[in-house]
Amino acid sequence: MIVLGIETSCDETAAAVVTDAGDKRIVANLVRSQLAEHRPYGGVVPEIAARAHLETLDPLIAGALAEAGIGFADLDGVAFTGGPGLIGGVIVGTMAAKAIALVRGLPLIAVNHLEGHALTARLTDSIEFPYLLLLVSGGHCQLLIVEAVGRYKRLGTTIDDAAGEAFDKSAKLLGLGYPGGPSIERAALAGDPARFDLPRPMKGRAGCDLSFSGLKTALRQIVERLAQNGAGLAPADVADLAAALQAAIGDSLVDRTANAIAMFRTRHPTGRNLVVAGGVAANRQLRGRLAALAASRDMNFVAPPAALCTDNAAMIAWAGLERLRLGLTDDLDFAPRPRWPLDPDAAPAIGAGVKA
Ligand code: KG4
Ligand code: ZN
Repeated sequence: MIVLGIETSCDETAAAVVTDAGDKRIVANLVRSQLAEHRPYGGVVPEIAARAHLETLDPLIAGALAEAGIGFADLDGVAFTGGPGLIGGVIVGTMAAKAIALVRGLPLIAVNHLEGHALTARLTDSIEFPYLLLLVSGGHCQLLIVEAVGRYKRLGTTIDDAAGEAFDKSAKLLGLGYPGGPSIERAALAGDPARFDLPRPMKGRAGCDLSFSGLKTALRQIVERLAQNGAGLAPADVADLAAALQAAIGDSLVDRTANAIAMFRTRHPTGRNLVVAGGVAANRQLRGRLAALAASRDMNFVAPPAALCTDNAAMIAWAGLERLRLGLTDDLDFAPRPRWPLDPDAAPAIGAGVKA
């Protein structure tokens, strides 16, 4: 099977072609980042994002097909991110996918963006269900059991900010560039994580829920204190704070994931894989710490290459291909979904600002 994937849910326009035949599954994988458009605002501006998707998507799809050396006639299906995400962008991708499917008479597959992240490890490492997944991105932070395509059991979720959001907002406070994760990771390399004392939200508590908004507040208070004493933040202060933040986020994630491993083991005694996915999974220190945790619990650790952790269309094409193989296709009247939880049975998390 050969499937075209389209991703437009946030600030990356992406088109990819994947296949399940042969060793090389990703045949083409193009990502056009909108960083330059959003950077002056320090974050993603939804209207700018939607317009940029509109301008760049068509040539990107043509480029992906050209790179794959195929035409629309060679495709077995068209997959697209149907949500969750910024609705303007999701509409752009949805309309493009519908147009191709309608004109070429192809099956249409609406993919949950989170399912794209969740199934990436099956694309890269061919792992079997069930597995434990830590999904950490800019808008989402959850621990889930991936039981099958379309079947997820949520063990825990953030009750406020996502981990990526904590990186992004903190980077802004520290005067570092957007997106925050990569710039904090870079700054932290020269920093001392022990100089400043930041909280470890939720650490030691039962269950697998997460919380990050307190961390951001604690960081802001330290920044304000330092600013009162002098002309502002010295480069060493920024490096030490970045290192402290990265360590605190890592500690929380490792602690919560350890609890999730215990819960996963109870439900699935033979399950052996811990998978990390989503943009924050690109963080090298976090990958190292999760690998150590997995090893200490006799688990196999799977982390897709960083370029497949951050948003891309190969993951959407792959999730679409998995759905298509099961006959899970969608109608041309599919309505884009700004919110779309992976586990609709999970109770809503307490706290404000909780994403799907
Ligand atoms: O999955 P993703 O590309 O988009 C969403 O679906 O949200 O994740 C983006 C998030 C951003 O918050 C970004 O700061 C974070 O992933 N991120 C990182 C790193 N690279 C991206 N966080 C920590 N370390 C990184 N190296
Ligand atoms: Zn994402």
